[in-house]
Amino acid sequence: MPRYAYPRPSRREITPESLYRNRRRFLQQSALLGCGAALPGLWPGAAYAWKEALAEAPASAFSTDESLTSLDDITSYNNFYEFGTRKRDPSDWAHYLQTDPWSVRIEGEVGKPGEFPLDEIVRAAWLEERIYRLRCVEGWSMVIPWIGFELRELLEYHQPTADADYVALETLYDPDNLRGQRRGIIDWPYREGLRLDEAMHPLTLLAVGLYDKPMPNQNGAPIRLVVPWKYGFKSIKSIVKIRLQKERPVSSWEADAPEEYGFYANVNPNVDHPRWSQARERRIGESGRRETLLFNGYEEEVAHLYEGMDLEEHF
Ligand code: MTE
Repeated sequence: MPRYAYPRPSRREITPESLYRNRRRFLQQSALLGCGAALPGLWPGAAYAWKEALAEAPASAFSTDESLTSLDDITSYNNFYEFGTRKRDPSDWAHYLQTDPWSVRIEGEVGKPGEFPLDEIVRAAWLEERIYRLRCVEGWSMVIPWIGFELRELLEYHQPTADADYVALETLYDPDNLRGQRRGIIDWPYREGLRLDEAMHPLTLLAVGLYDKPMPNQNGAPIRLVVPWKYGFKSIKSIVKIRLQKERPVSSWEADAPEEYGFYANVNPNVDHPRWSQARERRIGESGRRETLLFNGYEEEVAHLYEGMDLEEHF
């Protein structure tokens, strides 16, 4: 029996986009002036109810001002193979995901390892709203108003050692509730990884909400990664383990089909997938197709990470 079902908001409850953005701008200005608005990261402590305060998180300068994908599309067109391979499976089945209590284990090459309750992690973090483009390797994209904090904030707190060159992340393994894990779609649990400098980049986010609310189960509750310049499959959902290590981790899709899914998985219109072109994409909710941008439009921010690397070889 499911104990927790994420309530799907009705269309009527959705704030029109213009109102939503004006409120955010006000909160951002208040934050810059140091006045007024409740800034979640400032008051860590047992009484701070971060889930209720998500709407107060100030807007980030890293946000795109492109039109947002609707909440309905964001929560009903998903890839979350733990619930099946069809786009509707996550919204149909993710109410089985048990997200409370939740903790994240941080281990390997760190000075402060351990298992930490999610509430403790989030209460100590600086939450922001980050509107990012998400480009899926399958050729579609969305614009999503995430709420989260920088992965580097968490990693720095846990003190990576000199041997921490990579970060390996893992999703919950719970086949009783995650029905897709009863089938050998991939070698469970879902695994992803980043080079340490990619993980420490300020664009790399641990998201705990979207559209002002806690993360919907189908989008990777209660905490997921978002790496906006990489194909969506790098953005691992429902994270329970973060391991710092010397060796490069092998991601689930890379293990499954190394000729199709590389470790880097940077969005690149010039390097095709072996079975289809990556030059164009379909923005969910729009008609037609648009050009895909190198590094998903975040070239200025991240190109330096790959200087001197052959991006066709390291795809
Ligand atoms: N994380 C886990 N654990 N399992 C998955 O199947 N799918 C990935 C990524 N993270 C996936 C995952 C893929 S392919 C994409 S495109 C994004 O999640 C989709 O995120 P969204 O459904 O929230 O848009």
